[in-house]
Amino acid sequence: MTAYKIALLDGDGIGPEIMAEAVKILDLVGKRNNIEFDLQHGAFGAHAYFDHGHSFPEATKQLCDSADAILKGPIGLSHEESKKIPVDMQPERGALLPLRRRYNTFANIRPVFLPKSLAHFSPLKPEIIGEGIDFIIIRELVGGLYFGKKESGINAQGKRYVNESLEYDEDQIANIAKVAFETSMKRKKVLHNIHKSNVLKSSVLWNEVLEEVGQDYPEVEIKHILVDAAATYLCLNPGQFDVMVMENMFGDILSDQGGGILGSLGLMPSACLGPEKAYYEPSHGSAPDIAGQNIANPYSMIGSVAMMLEMSFGLEAEARNVWHAMQSVFAQGNSTPDLSKPGEGVKMISTQAFGDLVVEELDKTPVSSS
Ligand code: IPM
Ligand code: MG
Repeated sequence: MTAYKIALLDGDGIGPEIMAEAVKILDLVGKRNNIEFDLQHGAFGAHAYFDHGHSFPEATKQLCDSADAILKGPIGLSHEESKKIPVDMQPERGALLPLRRRYNTFANIRPVFLPKSLAHFSPLKPEIIGEGIDFIIIRELVGGLYFGKKESGINAQGKRYVNESLEYDEDQIANIAKVAFETSMKRKKVLHNIHKSNVLKSSVLWNEVLEEVGQDYPEVEIKHILVDAAATYLCLNPGQFDVMVMENMFGDILSDQGGGILGSLGLMPSACLGPEKAYYEPSHGSAPDIAGQNIANPYSMIGSVAMMLEMSFGLEAEARNVWHAMQSVFAQGNSTPDLSKPGEGVKMISTQAFGDLVVEELDKTPVSSS
């Protein structure tokens, strides 16, 4: 029997609730495919700090080191609550960035996907959505401003100042470019390169290296587009995009905009791939305002499981089955209070009920079906 160990980092806020639903799916997938998933929870995030004195405790590092893949929930507290934790231990700086650095998860894959049947979730007009929204944001995840040199203090004029640098070397750019071209080759072979080379030197190098890598992929058409213009086109004509590639900070911002045009970041799973290890996480935050109410939709967490099945375990058909199961649950008119307002034919259900229905749908689907 195949066996995989998965580290489950529930995280903060709604994390444990949506993780519980992801676990139901993993249990069923294991049974259906004769795979033993060894699921082990590790403390990570603000709760880990309060319980263990560190937001990424040593025991969790060991667990992640020994796991075949990592499934991570959202982390973080409200702005006010965060102040109870020293700045460098706050879960974003103390846990998430160190996790990304530890496994060099340079390739962040964020599908922005809404089939026509779910178009009602989107704030965009039906004529803009057309046949649905379907593109992938590929974000470089371990470079740029997030990981560049930082200093702050008092300058020669006696003023407080801060200096953070946007750093990339050519290998980092080439690595993410390869992932983008490979992804494009499996899709429509149109790659939008997002940059700001009219101002930033980092973008000049980025574009140069991307074009060099592109010589190995002559079938892929490269379309260069400035990041500010890309933000506009995401609203006006998202259908033109298929694969978009960009540096870390641009990707942080535009992927949230991707969630916005779907109608919610709750519809945004993601994969963070490194050379040896990958972790999977919803793109959204921990939503402390709705935590513990059983109203958060687990789509992004279950979608992250689907990405893990495909990318870490090669279970492509089963990953598709999980996506279809979630879409059928929505297509039957079900939704959760975080995604929809009551009324207009919506069957409002809880986080747990949503997970149960996905399990039911998946259970009905033949294992080998694709
Ligand atoms: C994301 C998040 C993180 C980021 C935060 C939580 C540090 O917004 O994954 O997009 O900025 O990368
Ligand atoms: Mg973000």
